[in-house]
This record gives sequence, C-alpha cells and structure tokens, in this order.
Amino acid sequence: MSTRKTIAVIPGDGIGKEVIPQAVKVIEATGVPVDLTYFDWGADRYLKDGTTVPPDGFEILARDFDAILVGAFGDPRVPSNIHAKEILLGMRFKMDLYANVRPVRLLDASLCPLKGMEPKDIDFVVIRENTEGPYVDRGSITDKGTEDEVAIQEDVNTYKGVLRIIRYAFEYCAHNKKADGTPRARVLMCDKSNAMTYAGGLWQRVFKELSGEYPQIKSEHMYVDALCAQMVRDPRQFDVIVTNNMFGDIITDLAAGLQGGLGMAASGNIHPGRTSMFEPVHGSAPPLAGKNIANPMGAILTAAMMLRHLGFSREARRIEAEVLDAIRQKRTTQDIGGAMGTSELGDWIAKSKFIAHVGDPDFHDGAIIRVTSEADQLLVEIEGFSGAQFSVRFDGVKSVFSHKPEDMTIDALVEMEAPPPSRRFVFTNSYEPEDEGGDAYLDITAENLSVKKV
Ligand SMILES: NC(=O)c1ccc[n+]([C@@H]2O[C@H](COP(=O)([O-])OP(=O)(O)OC[C@H]3O[C@@H](n4cnc5c(N)ncnc54)[C@H](O)[C@@H]3O)[C@@H](O)[C@H]2O)c1
Repeated sequence: MSTRKTIAVIPGDGIGKEVIPQAVKVIEATGVPVDLTYFDWGADRYLKDGTTVPPDGFEILARDFDAILVGAFGDPRVPSNIHAKEILLGMRFKMDLYANVRPVRLLDASLCPLKGMEPKDIDFVVIRENTEGPYVDRGSITDKGTEDEVAIQEDVNTYKGVLRIIRYAFEYCAHNKKADGTPRARVLMCDKSNAMTYAGGLWQRVFKELSGEYPQIKSEHMYVDALCAQMVRDPRQFDVIVTNNMFGDIITDLAAGLQGGLGMAASGNIHPGRTSMFEPVHGSAPPLAGKNIANPMGAILTAAMMLRHLGFSREARRIEAEVLDAIRQKRTTQDIGGAMGTSELGDWIAKSKFIAHVGDPDFHDGAIIRVTSEADQLLVEIEGFSGAQFSVRFDGVKSVFSHKPEDMTIDALVEMEAPPPSRRFVFTNSYEPEDEGGDAYLDITAENLSVKKV
C-alpha cells in the first residue's frame, strides 16, 4: 500500500493566502511523500463567478484526499460573509468534522503575557464540538424593524452529538501525552448549565455517564465564565477541556493569547477515519493582508499537526523543532516582537539548517550516560551501541536546551546552522515522540566541541 498522501490546499482569503504558502514550503522541505492540489475557493472566486463551493466540492474532498489544509475565509468585499459560511462551516458541518482539536501549548516563556509561566505550565488542549450549537444558524425574527422585534438564535444540542464529542475528549486524554512526556489525566467539561439549563442538562448528564467509563481519568467541571477567569489566573490547572461550539470558539481565542497570540495557534477539524481538515485558529485579518507581516507560525504548526495525523510524526516533530528554534533565535514576525516578514520567516523555517554529522559514527544507537557542566564547559559521556565509550566536550557554551537526555537513544550528533561565532550541536533522538523517551533532547550552542574515545 502506498504511503503517499494526498492533501487539498485551500488558502482562502486575506492572510490565509500569505501564511499557507509558508506552511507548504515547510512541508515540502521535510521531503514527506505528499501530493498537493490547490483549490481557489474564497472571496476572489465568489466575486468572479458567484461560486462558493463548486458542485460535488465536499464529495471530492472527502473521496480524493487524505487531509485538507485551509487558510482562512473572510473578506470585506463580501459583507455577508456568505462564501466563508458556505466553505468553512460547510466543510465542518457537511463533512461532519465534529471534533475541533485546538492544542494550547506555550513554546517559549517569552511568548506568554502572564508572569512566570514556563512551557511546562501551559500545555492543554481544547476539544470543541464543531457541528452543533448556535452555529447551525437556526432561528427566526419576528416584527423585524419594529420596536417589538424578537430575534431567536437556536442552540442545537443532540444526544449523539454531545456523546461523541465528550467520548472523543476522554479518548484523546487516554491516548495522548503532554509535550514533556507526562500522560494526560484529566478531562474538564465547560458549560453554562446554571443559566442554559436545557442544553447544559444534557451535557451534564452525558458527561457523568461517560466519566464512569473512564475511571482512570479525573472528570472536572467549570462554568465558562469561571473558566475564563481561571485561564488567565492560573492556566497550569488545565489538561483536556471539552466544550460546545460557541464556548470553544471563544475560549480558544483567549487561550491563543497565552501562547503568543492568534498567529501562534493551530487546529484540526477531525472525524476519525474520514478526511479531516486543518487550519490555523486565526481568521483572514484584513488589516494585515498584503503587507507580508502576518505570523505564519500558526499555519506552520497546523501543517505539523496535519502531518502527525497522517502518520508522519517524525516530520511533524522536525517542523515543531524548527518553529521553536526560530522563536529562540528571535526570528519572528512583529506580532511576537520580531522584525521578519511572513515569507522570509517561512523561508528561514523551511530552509534545511543541517550542516554536518559530527562526533563519531559509533554513537549510533548509543546512550547518554551523564551530562555535567563546569564554568562554560559541558561534558557529555556516551556509550555507543558497540560498548565503546566517548566523552564529548563543548567549550564556550552559550546555551543548553535539554529534556531528560539520558532517556534518548542517540541517532547522531549533528551540527546545525547558528549565528556565528556560535556553533549549534544537536543530539538527535531515534525514538518516535510517542515512544518512552521520545520527547528527550539535548541541544547545545557553544564555540567548539572535541570528542575523545575513552
Ligand atoms: N477560520 C476562519 O476562517 C476564520 C476565523 C476567525 C475569523 N474569520 C474571519 O476573518 C475576518 C477577520 O476576523 P477577525 O478580525 O475577527 O479575526 P482575525 O483572527 O482575522 O484577526 C484578529 C486580529 O488578530 C491578529 N492576528 C490574527 N492572525 C494573525 C497572524 N497570523 N499574525 C499576526 N496577527 C494576527 C491581528 O491583530 C488581527 O487583526 C472576518 O471576516 C472573520 O469572519 C475567519
């Protein structure tokens, strides 16, 4: 069976047309076996020939593609936003992409507006119901234009819809780890059942029903207003949050603020076993469009999420590491304090910064026994696969990023591009992220290294 995957790419409107090409550059730079097909759905096409979604559009997406990568929709020239509604909500509703998965992960402390937050403190995920709620756009208006006008917007919640999204959240919790390798352990259901008793009552009942099936997972509840306050007071307490369409929409913009803003946030619209759609959380941001200033990181992280969903976790991990590297080296757009253009940042992240394998080939499949430091030196002691022992000394150390380096199996020691006169050395890990030890890394910026067989 071919491992090649087919991806439909729909950049859409505004900054969607600027950030998606960066995500594509980065996907292509990984060499992952994918075939991309572009679709011109969006405001330009709608204004040209009145088409929002061509006949059979959704059937083609579902039948011929493994995944869909989307930018954003919304254009001031289409005040009704009819095209956005038909394309975006059409995909979510008609393709029944019922789980909107929005990871909220702080990549670097510098990005968080809250004091003292570290990446380990903010690593939760919001699972938003994506096909029901007030967004089904049912309702009525009576006595329009008079003082007696009444507008009713219906909030639709079905037992089956609520059951499947809450189950998805429990399953997600059971099968996913945090970035630091610790298992996820808690699901929090967020509603407003004190005021919206009909819908809230159903969510409460189903949540209770399913909690019993997952005794190893702690079940929690918060009203949405209290949750917003807690999210800015202490986001460390969150793990997996499940909520309805509207609350999920709102709280994930707030959550994006914790990660560095809307330009940083990624999402997937998923129906397990079917063609799913991936898009950055942000919209088309018309004031930013055409200026080459939009942050492409949300779109690039969305691409990584899509590749992981398609089974390319190594490539996904590489893309996430490149984004993290860009942030650490202050290669960013202006919304998060940098000065790079959208396209230049995409080039920088996509460009292979691999310089050479260094060290000794006998490191292969070896283990790091000990890491010690003294003044500006770092000593890494290694036992190779064949039992040979090495000591690797880094001099003039500027920075060390590491996480449980003793847990990794060394693939190689490689040199990556770094601003001169520094050199950057990375021990690559041969484990997959989902394996025990797969999240371990050791990344050193120093002036030099020397390797001795002992
Ligand atoms: N999924 C979608 O397609 C989607 C989502 C939200 C809004 N929209 C549509 O987008 C249009 C604009 O909506 P909006 O202004 O409420 O939301 P928006 O997300 O487009 O932008 C809000 C603000 O967030 C910041 N921002 C967003 N993305 C950014 C990025 N990549 N880099 C830097 N800064 C970024 C900007 O300051 C921007 O003005 C509307 O037509 C709306 O309907 C579409």
